[in-house]
Amino acid sequence: MSEIIVSTPVHNRLEQLFLKHNLSKKTVVLFDENTKELFGRDILTALKNQGFTFVELVVPARETSKSFRTAYRLYGNLIEADVDRSWNLLAVGGGVVGDLGGYIAASYYRGIPIVQLPTTLLAMTDSSIGGKVAINHPLGKNLIGFFHMPELVLIDPSYLKSLPEREVYAGMAEVVKYGFIADMEFLRYIEKHFDDIVAIKDPYVSEAVRKSASIKADIVEQDFKEQSGLRATLNFGHTFAHGFEKLADYRHIRHGEAVAVGMICALHLSRKLEKISQDELQRGLAILSKFKFRRGLVQKRFKDIPAETILESMLSDKKKVDKQLRYVLLEGLGKAYLHPEPLDDGIVIEAIEKAKKCC
Ligand SMILES: NC(=O)c1ccc[n+]([C@@H]2O[C@H](COP(=O)([O-])OP(=O)(O)OC[C@H]3O[C@@H](n4cnc5c(N)ncnc54)[C@H](O)[C@@H]3O)[C@@H](O)[C@H]2O)c1
Ligand SMILES: [Zn+2]
Repeated sequence: MSEIIVSTPVHNRLEQLFLKHNLSKKTVVLFDENTKELFGRDILTALKNQGFTFVELVVPARETSKSFRTAYRLYGNLIEADVDRSWNLLAVGGGVVGDLGGYIAASYYRGIPIVQLPTTLLAMTDSSIGGKVAINHPLGKNLIGFFHMPELVLIDPSYLKSLPEREVYAGMAEVVKYGFIADMEFLRYIEKHFDDIVAIKDPYVSEAVRKSASIKADIVEQDFKEQSGLRATLNFGHTFAHGFEKLADYRHIRHGEAVAVGMICALHLSRKLEKISQDELQRGLAILSKFKFRRGLVQKRFKDIPAETILESMLSDKKKVDKQLRYVLLEGLGKAYLHPEPLDDGIVIEAIEKAKKCC
């Protein structure tokens, strides 16, 4: 498994950490325009001072950079710079840079090592961990990719200080998810320190990042290729979220915003099947009510779509594979499971209706 380092600062230890992991000091540094502007000088100076040879690549800061066209252009840059198998790639950015960098590292010269240096809350707690890397296809997101484990994940939570509030809340949805699916004690910590975490205050934000990253790494280690159903629990709230995101064309809402709404639906569904108590439902909803989404715009958009349309969109996603949706539910706060049987559309629609009322 990858080693995950959570430390402020982290860029001053690159040489020591690369050597420890038998990584050469020849690295391709991939940024997006924003992370280049924000962290480029510090990171490149640190690499220079620590005796690295490096090639720098920058892509536009948007989801469409996760494309074959961008990857193809970058392969060309690497060939021209004589980058070969003895090099590695350092991805500095959010999930877009991490996924694109991972895709390139997994394929270039049949694979070079990747080190992830995530800079968004979502990337620190989710996308940089677990080795799933992908680019998008015009017909669907994340369809072309690999399992390519990072050698190292280097997390400096102080990088979050410049992150826009909207991105902080989007990442926070995944943090809360880890509490719901795997760890009641962590959920209590989140309840108590929610405001400090979203205000990027230490030690709370570092602790939340460290704990989330370790829960994800643990789950991935036990079920790397998603065979036992355990890794699927990371998708708590996501079945609903994907349907909702798709209706918003993936553009108008952030993934984490859809996940927060999706978790409200999944909590109601868990309650309907009597897997959680009324008290647990209320407690879960109280945490999710702390999310501030741009003056309620996300909630309004969700409320405006008929529940049936959301379910249709959820179904259209998976129809090609097995014609059935599988739901991740809670059996008590802090414990998720993959519901083994298909569920009637009626009960799912009722859960969405309930979620709309309390959004
Ligand atoms: N591989 C996985 O397991 C996995 C899991 C979840 C999501 N993802 C993917 O992750 C992507 C979303 O990632 P994301 O939410 O990090 O979005 P992102 O990479 O688009 O980053 C969001 C924005 O924040 C900017 N930014 C990054 N760090 C910053 C900082 N410290 N300060 C200020 N601005 C900063 C970026 O330039 C960008 O504009 C999606 O493509 C999704 O498919 C992958
Ligand atoms: Zn997610």
